[in-house]
Amino acid sequence: MFSNKSIQLDVLKKRAYNLRWATVPDGVIPLTAADPDFPVAPEISDAICRFAKEGYFSYGPADGLPEFKESMAEYFRSKRKIKAEPGFIFPVDSAAFGIALICKAFLEVGDEAIIFDPVDFLFRYSIEAVGGIAIPFAILPGTEDAGFEKMELLITRKTKLICLCNPLNPTGKVFTKKELTDLAAIARKYDLIVLSDEIWSDITFSPNEFTSFASLDEDTSNRTVTVTGFSKAYGLAGLRIGAVMASNARHYKMLLDASMHNSTIHGANIISQVAASAALDRCGYWLDAFLIHLHSMRSLCVNGLNSVNGFKCISPEGCYVAFADITGTNRTSSQIRDILLNDAKVAVVPGLKEWFGGGAEGYIRLSFATSAEILGDALDRIIKTANSL
Ligand SMILES: Cc1ncc(COP(=O)(O)O)c(C=O)c1O
Repeated sequence: MFSNKSIQLDVLKKRAYNLRWATVPDGVIPLTAADPDFPVAPEISDAICRFAKEGYFSYGPADGLPEFKESMAEYFRSKRKIKAEPGFIFPVDSAAFGIALICKAFLEVGDEAIIFDPVDFLFRYSIEAVGGIAIPFAILPGTEDAGFEKMELLITRKTKLICLCNPLNPTGKVFTKKELTDLAAIARKYDLIVLSDEIWSDITFSPNEFTSFASLDEDTSNRTVTVTGFSKAYGLAGLRIGAVMASNARHYKMLLDASMHNSTIHGANIISQVAASAALDRCGYWLDAFLIHLHSMRSLCVNGLNSVNGFKCISPEGCYVAFADITGTNRTSSQIRDILLNDAKVAVVPGLKEWFGGGAEGYIRLSFATSAEILGDALDRIIKTANSL
């Protein structure tokens, strides 16, 4: 399933956008956006075909297809130890929209929300889109304990929200139960809502263990709004599908009202919900195999990057991205991006503030969700080019 043969580059060249195959010149390998090169599990395509063959694409329920809500609840109950209820979960057209929605529902103009630094740009973007102020909390790559007690120093009367990204894109950190318990204590002390983005939770490399924030205890669960998605673990990015989960009726109503789903102005595509349910219900075997493959791609990628003069890369605990420190090259991350693109013909994401926050300067990010052959080729080119600088 995860061999080089299964990758259809001719199809990816037509379909994979967002800095990937369809957007780079021929000959360039894009290790950019975190989107797998592999086709999805056959059960997902089959479910879409079966649904499409019936020939009806009527309006679905504003708060999601019952089978989607049930599959999601079962996932949270069995895999995440959360007492999830389908009635508090609804589908959204991507985890990205889920983050934006939570910010819209819980922030007012001038409110402050704490985000990690570095972290995916979506958090700052969503907070600022509703007039909020993003306050960065630094968690350097390789940090053993995030030291969440220090977050108290950032909290003011205007702080309303803490944005937890676990596992943390781009550094790959998976927070321990102890760290999350420390964070929960801060949230409780200052009565804050926690947005827990768990889209990467299924991509956790053993022996690291993922803990859902809402599973910690009842108080924590009650102040948590969880968001997840299907782009990372199941490769459904183009279907734009994710889910948000509240823990109480008040938060659920705030989210659904803010979503505009009831007016049909927004809503999650029914085919995407069918595909996501198939992924959750029937594709566990595929995900297990994907993780085994990713485990070896992680070693290949990290070892390769560590053999470049001036690069240093820690092994991510989760996420299929490597975040390499390139400061030893005495070049900026944009310069390294340009050199790798022009000379090695490999596209990577530079650690710019607009992608990951100010704490990302001096790093580049590479996705390793591809075959050993493609990744090996990209690494060989990177090593050859960067070692001759
Ligand atoms: C932490 C995090 N949250 C959310 C998303 C967005 O996912 P989606 O494709 O479902 O919008 C990403 C995608 O890279 C991500 O890394």
